[in-house]
Formats: sequence, C-alpha cells, structure tokens
Amino acid sequence: MLTTTGRAAQDAGEHAFIDEVIARRAGRPGALLGILEDVQEHTPHKYLCSDDLRYIAARTGTPLSQIFSVVAFYALFNREPQGEHTIAICRGTACHTRGSRNLLEKLRLDFGLTADADGAQADKLTLTTRDRKFTLRTVACFGQCALAPVVELDHRICGHMNEQALAREVKALVEEKRS
Ligand code: FES
Repeated sequence: MLTTTGRAAQDAGEHAFIDEVIARRAGRPGALLGILEDVQEHTPHKYLCSDDLRYIAARTGTPLSQIFSVVAFYALFNREPQGEHTIAICRGTACHTRGSRNLLEKLRLDFGLTADADGAQADKLTLTTRDRKFTLRTVACFGQCALAPVVELDHRICGHMNEQALAREVKALVEEKRS
C-alpha cells in the first residue's frame, strides 16, 4: 500500500507525464483523443482514473463533462483497471453463428469470472480476473466476419477459433510474459 508521501510522488510523476503529453499534442488535430490515449497507455493497468481526467481538463481548459463524454463514447478508453492481457471475443452475428458464445463461456469458466444477473446474458461485457492477469471483453464485430469466429488476443486478431486453439493461444500469452 502506498504511503501519503508515496502517493504524492506518484501523482507528481503522473502529472509531469501528462504535462509533457499535452505540450507534445497541443494544437494538433485530435489532440484530446491523443492525450487520453497516451495517458491511458502510460498507466500500469491501462485505464483513465478520475483524478487524471480532472487534471487533463484543468490543464487543457476542456470542460470535464466533455472529457467524460469522449471517454464514454470511444470503446478504446477504459475507466476500470485492465488485466495484463486482454482477450476480446466477437459477438457479432457471423461469429455467434460459428460458436463465439461457447468460446466466451469456456474462458469465463476457466478464469473463474462470473457476471452479475444482468451481465450473465449480456453480449456486451468486460470482466477482469481478480489477479488482474486477464481482461475478457466482447465486441460487436471486428469487421473480419470471413474469419469467424474471431478473437483478439492482446491486439492480435485470430480467426477460425475453436476452444482448443484458444486454450493454446492463452497459454502462449502467459508463457510469453514469463520468458
Ligand atoms: S461478426 Fe465477428 S468479425 Fe464480424
């Protein structure tokens, strides 16, 4: 756990990074999106916390409500800490027809992830394991329907997935990290 001094030092470091990003991005097209992306990428668990959003709003002179709207609109932004690895399963029609629900259920079972009563049936979900090793999420369509069912593992698209291939890919992710 961080002490107050440790927390202050961490905040100062984070603020210095944000200042540097703002200076680099200012005046460019899509500056706000770029700033948010850079800050999220720099955060250990790849998410945007409220403190950082408030700081960005203050330093860029952008209304905080606008920043929250942008973050809520774009699926690439996370408001919760993410796992070390992200696995996204397509739940579009083509992938659903070819068994993506089974892939999703298998991983949820393997990872011990339970959704609440509403989330259990939801086609749009994001779940992170307790140890923050994996975030499992669904997407509406990757635009790669010919490869259905499609799964994205740490930003790498894998097509024609089945349970065995997915288990191998997940194992490889873990081993890759160790090596
Ligand atoms: S429906 Fe899965 S990639 Fe389009």
